[in-house]
Amino acid sequence: MPANSEERDIIRQIFELAENDTTQMLDEVMSNPASNYTDPDKLAQEINILFREFPIVIAHGSELADSGDYLTHDDTGVPILAVRTGEGEVKAYLNVCRHRGARIEDLPCGNSRRFTCPYHAWTYDLDGALRGMPQPVGFDSVDFSERGLVELPAFERFGLIWVVPSPQDPQETAIDIDAWLAPMAEHLGGLDLADHVVFEKWALPRDMSWRLALEGFQESYHFCSAHRHTACSNYLDNQSVWIDCEPHMRHAVPLPRTLEMQGTPEDEWEYRTNFMTQNYLFPANFVQTMTDHVYVHTIIPTGPGTCAFHCMMLVHKSVAPESAENPEKAERYWRANYDVVRSVFNEDFVIGEGIQKGFAAGANDDVIFGRYEVGLHFGQKAIDAALAGDIVAPRHTQ
Ligand code: FES
Ligand SMILES: [Fe+2]
Repeated sequence: MPANSEERDIIRQIFELAENDTTQMLDEVMSNPASNYTDPDKLAQEINILFREFPIVIAHGSELADSGDYLTHDDTGVPILAVRTGEGEVKAYLNVCRHRGARIEDLPCGNSRRFTCPYHAWTYDLDGALRGMPQPVGFDSVDFSERGLVELPAFERFGLIWVVPSPQDPQETAIDIDAWLAPMAEHLGGLDLADHVVFEKWALPRDMSWRLALEGFQESYHFCSAHRHTACSNYLDNQSVWIDCEPHMRHAVPLPRTLEMQGTPEDEWEYRTNFMTQNYLFPANFVQTMTDHVYVHTIIPTGPGTCAFHCMMLVHKSVAPESAENPEKAERYWRANYDVVRSVFNEDFVIGEGIQKGFAAGANDDVIFGRYEVGLHFGQKAIDAALAGDIVAPRHTQ
């Protein structure tokens, strides 16, 4: 696919940087207090705002392919039950019974027409409505229509399922997910993620601030040291280009062969096959595109100095093992990619956990973001703005 105008600009910048033997740089080095990675009060504020008021990705649409398919998700600290309704819509609820609060569905995923609470068997349908209970005479003054499951804002966009992990405030209009994702919409739309399938999905608890895990995907300065034997040689060293799509960000990391396009007609330039792109979707989601497949990760704080790293490896359904001409060969090919990325991510996590221990030892009062660690500056700026109330999820006007 020929590069679009934003991608041509990125490619031109890569040529320019290479010619001038430099890289994209901001004017100033930035200091970030170590307390941003350790302070429990700061973390509580981050959870209350970033992880309650903004959409996070919890699944790929294919995981809820059919009516009645459901999954549960708990790492945000909010018990989430997401389902595909009879009308084909994705809805999400608090996984909490409206009788006396028991957890309704305990399985990670499945298919069901009804959800029955294990405690006293109150039963809810896929639309969250309370449909029945044993011996209802004991609750004859209760209005069933007011005892449906509590709904959370949920959206299916770009093949992904997004949930805001707190109930809609009845005083406010609904969150406008399209306005929220608009700065990245053209790029995300071109990835055709709805026609991908999940090759692997995994979640890792890690002993590091969620911010450290996030930052590992916002700069490429570390590639040729932290990933010396893995990712380093795959990319031009420290030659990233960032596009600030406030509060989101496109971080384009060129492969060495990008430079081979120099001197060729612009309308023949290709972006996808020449770049790895770490698309940051505020506050904690990444759509990381490789030349022929995609990783979607979401990083969630689980406590002071701990986080959960959720990741899906997506491949286009036309080349997935289940539809490939030679399924074993396809399985081997994608499995090899998966194994490499698990090693690369692990290299980041081991370093991140070491940093977290160093914070506890009190060696540094701050960390410093270099002039070419551009994504760290943009990311921190966006977090600060949201915590100050200057970035909010947009809402429909009525
Ligand atoms: S708590 Fe669910 S039916 Fe009683
Ligand atoms: Fe890394």
